[in-house]
Amino acid sequence: MAHITASVYTSHVPAIGAALDLGKSGEPYWQKVFAGYEFSKQWLRENTPDVIFLVYNDHANAFSLDLIPTFAIGCAAEFPIADEGWGPRPVPAVKGHPELAAHIAQSVIQDDFDLTIANRMPVDHGLTVPLSLMCGQPPADKFEWPCPVIPFAVNVVQYPVPSGRRCFNLGHAIRKAVESFDAPLKVQVWGTGGMSHQLQGPRAGLINREFDQTFLDRLIADPVDLARMPHIDYVREAGSEGIELVMWLIARGAMSDTLPRVAHRFYHVPASNTAVGHLILENT
Ligand code: DHB
Ligand code: FE
Repeated sequence: MAHITASVYTSHVPAIGAALDLGKSGEPYWQKVFAGYEFSKQWLRENTPDVIFLVYNDHANAFSLDLIPTFAIGCAAEFPIADEGWGPRPVPAVKGHPELAAHIAQSVIQDDFDLTIANRMPVDHGLTVPLSLMCGQPPADKFEWPCPVIPFAVNVVQYPVPSGRRCFNLGHAIRKAVESFDAPLKVQVWGTGGMSHQLQGPRAGLINREFDQTFLDRLIADPVDLARMPHIDYVREAGSEGIELVMWLIARGAMSDTLPRVAHRFYHVPASNTAVGHLILENT
């Protein structure tokens, strides 16, 4: 059977993608960000899974106000890189895993979570920046991502957005689905977005280091309690875009119920307007 080996959590700041794509990753400002991922790139080389189930949010690129799926699972064989207004990032298209994705859709929908099936979905910085951070940035034409990726898009852009509790329980359903797939696949679940940031309104620029560090502590040690935190606490404490953090609870809910091993923890401010947080948790 397939099983979940580890989960990865990381912010997805679009300027990180731009720094990589424009050859600025060596600049002192960006070095401090990328330094936190040196361990992670080595770890991923040593622990390459067969499939990454990547929880992220679309930023009005694949979807728009015309159509707002709360949860959309990418079931295609390939996902093109979205053009977010200045051309697609020069990174390889993302190869999917249609068989596992279809199995997860079947299992999770039967477990009462209403997923939207996405058979055509361009993927934006929410998905490609975490991949770049973890896999590095060789040229698009000479490189493939290290394994297939199942994109799982969560609406955290347009209210109403799903609660942390629902996301955590959805993680449990995803774990059950993976563990009932009849092939010996090693699967990682990645939760992306966050940490504290607000891009708009009078509080634009808000960062809350204390909230972020406590969130990391609780995500590791007591996710059941963390999952009870209501929206308004995310918005008040972590800013309007801090709500992206509910996606980390999907990945955490997909992990075993026993305490995970913390393989890596990193936190840095600033990167663009955002606090960058990063964790690697291994099932023991
Ligand atoms: C920024 C952060 C985000 O999460 C995002 O989606 C867009 C911009 C920023 O820091 O500028
Ligand atoms: Fe974002």
